[in-house]
Amino acid sequence: MMKSSEIRQRYLDFFARRGHRIIPSASLIPENDPTVLFTTAGMHPLVPYLLGEPHPAGQRLVDVQKCIRTGDIDEVGDASHLTFFEMLGNWSLGDYFKTEALAWTFEFLTSTEEGVGLPANRLYVTVFEGDTTAPRDEEAISLWQKIFAKHGIEARIGERIYAYDRKENWWGPAGQTGPCGPDSEIFYDRLGDENLTKHWSSGPYEGQCGPACGCGRYLEIGNNVFLQYQKTADGQFEPLTQRCVDFGGGFERLAMLMQEAGSVFETDLFRPIINEVERQSGCHYEDDSEKDRLMRIVADHLRSAVFMLGDEHGISPSNLDQGYVLRRLIRRAFRCGRQLGMTAPFLGQLGVAVVEFYSDMHPELGRQRMHIVAELETEERKFGEALEKGLIQAQKLGDKYAASEVIPGVEAFYLYETFGFPRELTEEVIGKPVDVPAFEERFRAHQKLSRSGAEQKFAGGLADNSEEVVRLHTATHLLHRALRQVLGNHVEQKGSNITKDRLRFDFTHGEKMTDEQKVEVERIVNEQIDADLPVHFEMMTVAEAKAAGAIGLFEDKYATLGDKVKVYFIGDSETGYFSTEICGGPHVERIGELVHFRLLKEESSSAGVRRIKAVVG
Ligand code: ALA
Repeated sequence: MMKSSEIRQRYLDFFARRGHRIIPSASLIPENDPTVLFTTAGMHPLVPYLLGEPHPAGQRLVDVQKCIRTGDIDEVGDASHLTFFEMLGNWSLGDYFKTEALAWTFEFLTSTEEGVGLPANRLYVTVFEGDTTAPRDEEAISLWQKIFAKHGIEARIGERIYAYDRKENWWGPAGQTGPCGPDSEIFYDRLGDENLTKHWSSGPYEGQCGPACGCGRYLEIGNNVFLQYQKTADGQFEPLTQRCVDFGGGFERLAMLMQEAGSVFETDLFRPIINEVERQSGCHYEDDSEKDRLMRIVADHLRSAVFMLGDEHGISPSNLDQGYVLRRLIRRAFRCGRQLGMTAPFLGQLGVAVVEFYSDMHPELGRQRMHIVAELETEERKFGEALEKGLIQAQKLGDKYAASEVIPGVEAFYLYETFGFPRELTEEVIGKPVDVPAFEERFRAHQKLSRSGAEQKFAGGLADNSEEVVRLHTATHLLHRALRQVLGNHVEQKGSNITKDRLRFDFTHGEKMTDEQKVEVERIVNEQIDADLPVHFEMMTVAEAKAAGAIGLFEDKYATLGDKVKVYFIGDSETGYFSTEICGGPHVERIGELVHFRLLKEESSSAGVRRIKAVVG
């Protein structure tokens, strides 16, 4: 049985041998992208490079990217939905195109020496059938036919190669605008694999279906997207200056196939967590389908929560944005754990099981271990307390409605909304049924409200290059520089997030800034804006950029000293630059466009890290 760690390594090595540079997974929290809360695909952190920015690690990249997709949080618990997953990714940034991409994907999947050795006759592919934007992908069809022929398989259309419409075979853009194009997916046929078919939804397979059918027979394991177009804000598709390939593969799914597991939850990726749930609850996985569902939810949500808490731009549970999603995940895991008979505190210990299993591949988790456990325990305690309060309220409600047969939905919903008190619990405590239709009506109305906000953010999306965002991005460089002047050179960027309305900048500094320091930082930034300094960039090697005194996060992450990076200069060479920073851009041309800089808030972000919110205009 191939371990998941071996699959990861084989994947990286396979593409490294074919000229790809291995880059580390980016943070789960997108930088400078106000359109999404989380990194949702491997391509997401690479969007600027897919659009033509030179990447310092070159034109061929490979990685395993941490991703979060919470759009289907309510479906978690079935055999395949996950809120956190790792995506295998490889890219050609204006280098090779379809020929190599399809051949290498197939070779990796089927080669026993270098890849994972899946049988070729189990693989099926799809291509774009064409419409008014782009024609049928004849090139992909003929390439697939040749590839299958090498394995002695005649690949007929409608039997081995399926052509589908835009809904199935066109990818992106993830947000309103950005790179997109036809794609070609690859599927594994599970028919006949007894263990793998265990979790099929029963129908509608009757010997007639194809990869697009939802019955579960065909499992999608990867997707090559041929990024040839850019969707613009007015809905047009413009050809990209460079053609790119974006491959994304489902790591957990591949592990499931390789380990002949009935679901991703039975792979070695989940075993340590499920074992811990079994140990603490006394339940046995695969004894009882309802308990299995609860165990899967606990395992999935805990894994996501640990990765969010341990992320390099770590977040904490809160009532806003990412923190709110994190809070929901932890609280749902807690409730399911309780239903399994686990007694608090149990989340910290489950967190440790995740950290221990994953910290080889994701060392940030090991570094953040104490923080992860402490946050899980705090949230568990807080939620436990809220539930206690809810219990008192529920008992009062019981008295109030002593003479009624049912508890009004609106009352039960209040308990749910205010104390996170589930309906079933209200029924249990009071010993009477809740008016379910009335409760659900409230529940749905509430969900609709929170979804409309959430959907925009979960839609997946791309860096927003609107004028406001670009101005705030330039202001971030000025702020960074001014902070170093006022507080000292220990100030380093820890995170940056820009929305249309404000910038947010996290930086290392041990104490609260004084009022004088804040005024001074504002004054310095505004002095530069008033002088209307020019902005320009130059391509230089990391070594040259360092010699030029450039600051920036980028170097440790991707680039070695000889790689070329983009360096932005603010100011003029004769009087000395005010700011020199490694950065992908874009920026304004003259900083007078910022008009005026104002600091809104300075607060603690985490231990040793301060956070500033500021505006321009
Ligand atoms: N970005 C592509 C996907 O998520 C590969 O399917």
